[in-house]
Amino acid sequence: MNDAALRRALQKAIDRRAPLRQRTPTTNAFRLVNARGDALPDVTVDLFDKVAVLSLYRDLPPDEEVRLAEAVRQTSGARAVYLKRRPREARVAANVAKSEVAPESPITGERVDELTVLENGVHFVIRPGQGLSVGLYLDMRDTRQWVREQIRGRTLLNTFAYTCGFGVYAHHGGAARAVNVDLSRRVLDWGEENLRRNGFLPDRRDHLAGDCFEWLKRLAKKGETFDVVVLDPPSFSTSRSGRFSAARDYPKLAAAAAPVVADGGWLVACCNLQQLSGARFEAMVQAGIAQAGRSARLIQRLGPSAIDFPSTSDEPPGLKVRVYEVRSR
Ligand SMILES: C[S@@+](CC[C@H](N)C(=O)[O-])C[C@H]1O[C@@H](n2cnc3c(N)ncnc32)[C@H](O)[C@@H]1O
Repeated sequence: MNDAALRRALQKAIDRRAPLRQRTPTTNAFRLVNARGDALPDVTVDLFDKVAVLSLYRDLPPDEEVRLAEAVRQTSGARAVYLKRRPREARVAANVAKSEVAPESPITGERVDELTVLENGVHFVIRPGQGLSVGLYLDMRDTRQWVREQIRGRTLLNTFAYTCGFGVYAHHGGAARAVNVDLSRRVLDWGEENLRRNGFLPDRRDHLAGDCFEWLKRLAKKGETFDVVVLDPPSFSTSRSGRFSAARDYPKLAAAAAPVVADGGWLVACCNLQQLSGARFEAMVQAGIAQAGRSARLIQRLGPSAIDFPSTSDEPPGLKVRVYEVRSR
């Protein structure tokens, strides 16, 4: 794509997000370019206030990477553009250095090690140079807001919590309690920092490090239940309890989670695997809940916002969110 066509496509993408920018100052983090949905295949750009994160899903020569990053910086007005190289092979190849995949310094502009952004008035700490994930998955914005609107006086279990996005929204929504579980203590600490930035006092007992499967078993054994349980696993992961593949193991995960959902409570099942259809995903979650001896009623389908995550028929939205009311049979 020549320079003029590239800038036209970027400007069109920017214009499309006008309704989101009008929400400033309550939201200043959103997706600026969503690959084919914005006529820029294999390219996404996430804007975190004045910092852009450019992800490339195909190898480009270094001068092409710079040209693209410069065009993003100039059209968006970002102070810095950070690059994430995500061609499919690089993501799985263990021998690719992290600094190669996600350079610590920006490809263009000034270095910004950390900044705080706003999403629906909620503060999040973003670390643009720290690996492939910088602190917030923007496709979950509408689901986080939905949870916040439902959670007053209720309890939340947020599994695969990462930086505790759902937990932080739950505090804003007046939850009775929000418990976060993640394998990584580092991201839970980040989540605690997010809570502090929002004026809440984190409680260590609500930030549980460890394998979600083990925690779900432990909580079920103790008879602990929650009004809302969020399941947001990565598509693939490896932990002490083995390898998890969402396409294969989601029923097992839903079966492990169903016992900790209070009677009449909700299971919020999320999956980001592009190849998995919504219908197949629903069948897997329902099978898992049934396996646990409980009944499920689908009450809500959610996903990324169509404003900043436009999709095409050959690139449907990756994220699927299904909310089930779970009851004893
Ligand atoms: C897709 S992210 C979750 C995003 C998060 N729910 C949000 O909205 O920001 C996946 C997270 O799952 C964690 N994880 C992966 N496998 C896990 C496991 N078996 N048990 C607990 N956490 C796990 C990773 O450390 C990572 O933080």
